[in-house]
Amino acid sequence: MAEVGIFVGTMYGNSLLVAEEAQAILSARGHEAKVYEDPQIQDWDANEGKYALIVTSTTGQGELPDSIVPLYDGLQDRYQPERQYGIIALGDSTYNDYCGGGRKFDALLQEQGARRVGEMLMIDASENPEPESMSNPWIEHWASLLES
Ligand SMILES: Cc1cc2nc3c(=O)[nH]c(=O)nc-3n(C[C@H](O)[C@H](O)[C@H](O)COP(=O)(O)O)c2cc1C
Repeated sequence: MAEVGIFVGTMYGNSLLVAEEAQAILSARGHEAKVYEDPQIQDWDANEGKYALIVTSTTGQGELPDSIVPLYDGLQDRYQPERQYGIIALGDSTYNDYCGGGRKFDALLQEQGARRVGEMLMIDASENPEPESMSNPWIEHWASLLES
């Protein structure tokens, strides 16, 4: 059994839906998962030693939604080689900076020495009106990579 904090960045709720489905799948696999809808740095710190799963969309021109900006800003200037995370980025390939928000978050964690478990999943809203149909199989696989 692994423990997972799911950190959500959303504007219209698609990423939250993906996060809630992820929580259900992880629980069904015997893991313990908690969703943070408006994640703060304190939530990240409380999740230390556990896995983090970031589920975020992109707004503006490749920017993170307001709901996850406080966490992103709070994480600046850290070094966190112990941190293990997965990331799901929702975007739309008709925009210039496709999945820019998720890429930005991933780049920050990589710079800080964190270890990504699995590849980043990018979900294109222009091709997948139901993002969970792409994320659910990815999460099933991701769940199998977690060490208890
Ligand atoms: C105003 C606006 C700006 C957006 N900008 C981008 C962008 O720069 N890059 C991208 O890949 N997707 C962009 N998107 C697409 C969203 O990220 C995508 O629709 C996503 O599924 C929304 O998920 P959410 O409901 O969790 O926020 C934008 C959408 C809107 C409405």
